[in-house]
Amino acid sequence: MSLYEMVNAEQGGINLNYFPQVRSACGRYLHLANGDKNINFSSCDYLGMANHPLMKEAAIRAIEKYGTNISGPMIFCGYTEYHEELEKRYAEMFGVNQALMYTTSYQANIGALPVIAQEVDLIVMDKLCHVSLYDAVKLSGKPFRVYQHNNIARLADIINNNPGKKILVVSDGVFSADGDFCDVAALCELKADNPNLILYIDDAHGVGALGAEGCGLVEASGCLGKVDVIIGTMSKSFGSTGGFCIIKDDELAQKVKYKSPTYNASRAVSPGVAAASCMALELNKREGKSRRAQLAELIDYAHRRLEQTSVNKQYSVSAVIPIIFEKAEQAAAVNAFLLQKNIMASLFVPPYVERNKSRLRVTLTSNHTNEDIDLLVDALEKAMAVAS
Ligand SMILES: Cc1ncc(COP(=O)(O)O)c(C=O)c1O
Repeated sequence: MSLYEMVNAEQGGINLNYFPQVRSACGRYLHLANGDKNINFSSCDYLGMANHPLMKEAAIRAIEKYGTNISGPMIFCGYTEYHEELEKRYAEMFGVNQALMYTTSYQANIGALPVIAQEVDLIVMDKLCHVSLYDAVKLSGKPFRVYQHNNIARLADIINNNPGKKILVVSDGVFSADGDFCDVAALCELKADNPNLILYIDDAHGVGALGAEGCGLVEASGCLGKVDVIIGTMSKSFGSTGGFCIIKDDELAQKVKYKSPTYNASRAVSPGVAAASCMALELNKREGKSRRAQLAELIDYAHRRLEQTSVNKQYSVSAVIPIIFEKAEQAAAVNAFLLQKNIMASLFVPPYVERNKSRLRVTLTSNHTNEDIDLLVDALEKAMAVAS
């Protein structure tokens, strides 16, 4: 069954408006092929950098020098100065000796996690981990247990019931569909009591958006240097494309580097993308703090505005704000209503989220204004009447 058939069968054939035909660069507005100009609450361009002129210039310069492809996987002949610089920048940013770049963070998870899992007897993961982590855990072939979302007491029980075992604990940092946070400090305390744990945090939505230097939720939680593995992406806050893996232990990092098929048996990002990513990290040094401050103000404003309404934003505390509905049809109806008002968010329905938890995911970026949020909140309040 194709993905289309599967999703439509799950939804009884409702129109989900997937794959809008976009005709402009990622920004505060998106122009569509049908002529609509929508306020864009659908991207994860948290720092508003996806169309930064210096990143475009850097990419163009790299393309002029190297073209649009590399000669092969990095292990053979595909490691240009941009790939080299990018890995150095990741390592410097997170304070490790070596960092690994991947084409996306999905590829980082399915490449790195199965190698790291060879070190352990059991994997224990948060129920709401991203699909790439589920795929990575399945690929590892290791026994695994799932604990209820953010239920650290339950996680501790599982650890205590498996004395002497080496355990890989896996969680999102900022949860991608719910917009709440993993309790990184609590995980680090568990690790302090259980040296047999390896902590693996995928912070695709936190890196760039959180932390004084943009190292994400782990940094914001005061836990840099305590988490064994951090996965990040260039594709959200940093406006480029690419994933990366930060591993505290040098020996384990070397093992992952040479054993990870998505690092060695597949091409890396093109030189243009690598150069844009290098520039994004430079911009993070120059402008990251002010962009994060702007984003934080918007997040605060949006949450305060939504809390004055009956709109159910559930547990979100971040730039990722899900509006949750019992039925997929309700979420689709609200989505259609917002699109009529030229407001665009992301529709999530099963099988991507649990049954009874379809949602419209609103994502904020530092490019938005309070007026954009006012328009969104007013439209959502009206749309709720349509959905009920
Ligand atoms: C937690 C998490 N990990 C990984 C990914 C994949 O990101 P990328 O586009 O870099 O593959 C996402 C993207 O949605 C995510 O939310």
